[in-house]
Amino acid sequence: MANVTLSTQGRFDGLETKNRMIMAPMTRSRALPNGVPSDFASEYYSQRASAGLIITEGIAPSAVGLGYARTPAIENADQIAAWKKITGAVHENGGRIFAQFMHVGRIAHPANRYTDAEPVSPSAVKAAGQMWTDALGMQDLPTPRALELREIPGVIGEYSRATKNALAAGFDGVELHSASGYLPMQFLSSNTNQRTDAYGGPVNNRIRFVVEVLEAMCEAAGSASKVGIKISPAMPFNDIHDANPVETYTTLVKSIGSLGLAYLHVLQSAPEPNYFKMLRPLFDGPFAAAGGFTKDSGDAMLASGGADFIVYGKLFLANPDLVLRFAEGLPLNEWDSTTFYAGGPKGYIDYPTAKPSTV
Ligand SMILES: Cc1cc2nc3c(=O)[nH]c(=O)nc-3n(C[C@H](O)[C@H](O)[C@H](O)COP(=O)(O)O)c2cc1C
Repeated sequence: MANVTLSTQGRFDGLETKNRMIMAPMTRSRALPNGVPSDFASEYYSQRASAGLIITEGIAPSAVGLGYARTPAIENADQIAAWKKITGAVHENGGRIFAQFMHVGRIAHPANRYTDAEPVSPSAVKAAGQMWTDALGMQDLPTPRALELREIPGVIGEYSRATKNALAAGFDGVELHSASGYLPMQFLSSNTNQRTDAYGGPVNNRIRFVVEVLEAMCEAAGSASKVGIKISPAMPFNDIHDANPVETYTTLVKSIGSLGLAYLHVLQSAPEPNYFKMLRPLFDGPFAAAGGFTKDSGDAMLASGGADFIVYGKLFLANPDLVLRFAEGLPLNEWDSTTFYAGGPKGYIDYPTAKPSTV
């Protein structure tokens, strides 16, 4: 399509978007200890409803998928009711919102969870590094328990139930977080997946979990067009490493390319190799590019046909009216990284808009 810019209307199968700007999923650590999102999350998200699409912070499909302090889940009635208020507020403001499912696998500290279940992963490989807990301060990450083969259908079932819960809560769709070193990426990557069964070893086995979770989410949603996926090939975050990410991600994307998904969301974390160029031709559907985009680089990416949507993280966090600021060339607020995960309203719902009438 000629002359596509950030302000051009977009379309996922069955869903119109006002523009080509997506608000990135961002964990904000403001939920209650029982996994219920905070009251002021409605305000945070509805302030940003001018995005073409909002993708929520990572939401655990079940308590065993929680890992960080004050992060939300979507497994019970209280959590679903709270999410319903949030989707309602976004829709009232003319926005669209997908729920991101984040099962952290081994990147979890028990003090941050309301379940006694141990953190799980494809193999019992501990991640280097520490995590913040409100009760104990910084803590080493524990060694996870390797999932038994017979348990895997149950984990996939948690994503199915979460999909149904998210649609009941009014979300327009759901995104599988298969990036940043969390459970799905732990299955994809050779250092965290040392299994010798059908879910480990050769690439077709390592991608199996992600493909089966996506298929289950599509079935639960009743339509693949309500289901997206995020990947971050070769991103080392959370002590993850794959011996051959080009093979892993080209094989994965070819395998899911014809499911009819809402979109493929790719976070490029290093300049080379260029996974946008590599993966776009392999995926038959909308392509969303993420990682350090500005207005100019986003417009250029769209104009070149390199992506259909551009995903903005920190810029949306700090600029609730980012769409207007880009459209009118207004100056941007800077983000304050000390309040990213700090809890409370500061640095969450108090970033100013450029014009009083925009919210
Ligand atoms: C505070 C913060 C929290 C984040 N949490 C998540 C998350 O929950 N899920 C996820 O997929 N990515 C998460 N990310 C990564 C963003 O979605 C995005 O990929 C990244 O910030 C790069 O985009 P940017 O350069 O436009 O910020 C987070 C980023 C930030 C800054």
